[in-house]
Amino acid sequence: MSTVTVLDHPLIQHKLAILRNKDTGVKEFRELVSEIAGLMCYEATRSLPTEEVEVQTPVALAKCRMLAGKKLAIIPILRAGLGMVDSMVDMIPSAKIGHIGLYRDPETHLPVEYYCKLPEDIENRQVFVVDPMLATGGSAVAAIDFLKSHGCKNIIMMNIIGCPEGIQAVQAAHPDVDLYLAAVDEKLNEHAYIIPGLGDAGDRIFGTK
Ligand code: PRP
Ligand code: URA
Repeated sequence: MSTVTVLDHPLIQHKLAILRNKDTGVKEFRELVSEIAGLMCYEATRSLPTEEVEVQTPVALAKCRMLAGKKLAIIPILRAGLGMVDSMVDMIPSAKIGHIGLYRDPETHLPVEYYCKLPEDIENRQVFVVDPMLATGGSAVAAIDFLKSHGCKNIIMMNIIGCPEGIQAVQAAHPDVDLYLAAVDEKLNEHAYIIPGLGDAGDRIFGTK
């Protein structure tokens, strides 16, 4: 079974409290999503393999460690996942980026695919799927299904806020995918919104409501 890691670092929790506030405006919301993703990236990449290298400093030869093994890819689930990409790329500049476009049908709450474009060599990469919200888990499961259908074998899921329903759905469908979250909230409401959550992440990032 996969692991679920909740990142309770004080900086993440502080920023998350401001993010949740209904009075936080679009500019600050966008900045906070990006900052939280950057901090989460630091933890979610903790187990990446490294290899020893020798580096000539101005005074001596130093034994250092650098990232080894698979190259990385960051895959935002559109739209809201886009808000998490820039800070991750700041940390991992060589990562390639793919896009999976899904929206939730307002009646059924099931994901509807409208756009997908992945790096050509995606099957050889360690993939980080990013999306601020894990609600029913339908979007995450569909995104991971799509990635696996393109040969991906090493997938990590990063969400800012999840809930038990979403986590269970991902674990049931994809027990090999580890999850990193900043918070696991109580439940879903009748519209499949996370309670207490933060509302509609896409609308708050892009100012569409
Ligand atoms: C939101 C969110 C996730 C999805 C989570 O996107 O960003 O992708 O809902 O819900 P689920 O776990 O029940 O699938 P939404 O469908 O609202 O699209 P948007 O990002 O374009 O606003
Ligand atoms: N999508 C969101 O943006 N927020 C939720 O609470 C659930 C799905």
